[in-house]
Amino acid sequence: FAPARLHLNDVKFFSRHLRSRVHNSHKGSYGNVAVIGGARGMSGAPLLAARTALNSGAGRVYALFVEDPLPCDSGQPELMCRLADDFDMRSSTLVIGPGLGASRLASALLARAIASDSALLADADALNLLAAEPALQAALAQRPGGCVLTPHPLEAARLLGATIAEVQSDRVGAARKLAAKLNANVVLKGSGTVIAAPNGDAVINTTGNPALASAGTGDVLSGLCGSLLAQGWPLWEAALAGVWLHGMAADVLVTEGSGPIGLTASELVPAIRVALN
Ligand code: APR
Ligand code: MG
Repeated sequence: FAPARLHLNDVKFFSRHLRSRVHNSHKGSYGNVAVIGGARGMSGAPLLAARTALNSGAGRVYALFVEDPLPCDSGQPELMCRLADDFDMRSSTLVIGPGLGASRLASALLARAIASDSALLADADALNLLAAEPALQAALAQRPGGCVLTPHPLEAARLLGATIAEVQSDRVGAARKLAAKLNANVVLKGSGTVIAAPNGDAVINTTGNPALASAGTGDVLSGLCGSLLAQGWPLWEAALAGVWLHGMAADVLVTEGSGPIGLTASELVPAIRVALN
């Protein structure tokens, strides 16, 4: 099986999903994103995802935390920072997992998110919770609307009951297996990110570079893909375009910015805005 490689022309084709900023529109025209994460000591992860969602076009973005204290200064006052436990998930695209932790509340929130009708992207600790709870996996696999999952190789290995070495020795096979198992659009991250659909389609991304190997860049990716979903993009296209743009932004920062060493996840956010526009 030889997967296709994802190039600019494909992404230009996807740009038909970009909602043009028509004059007679308002924030409700561009969708809501709710990022659910933020256990104690991990508030940066959902904030990075939420900032990215905002800076890539979503109309309203909530950053929801499993634990107090809420961060007193998110650095992005447009975000609505709330406790997650009583949030009404119905009218937002859900990005669950960044810094979520493994508490009972985290697991209950994931179960609620899976049971909701909202578009869903699960990342990071949400994937670890899934790996530990077969009942959640079964619920996810039966979800009528499907989902996007964005594992790095260790998270994928846990979900497959495999080793990292096994995942890395056949990245396309691992992504396709996980996509079929969980009825999910799977983004297997790392050098040469693989995107696989439940029907067996698989694509390898051509953008991105090792400057991305720094904490929080995955949270930025989940926020970007969630933002595209909130703006009405289908799951598969949101995953493909999100991965491509995320890597493109990093490539531009390396070649036209300050170089490959020391790139931070925060710097990616405005670069993604430029890449998207
Ligand atoms: N080449 C290209 N892309 C790369 C490279 C590379 N060499 N290294 C990393 N990347 C990209 C990945 O493809 C992915 O998009 O950077 C991003 C890293 O994402 P994660 O591995 O999820 O890293 P991080 O954002 O730090 O995760 C935050 O969530 O997954 C958990 O354990 C993780 O606690 C951590 C948190
Ligand atoms: Mg991550």
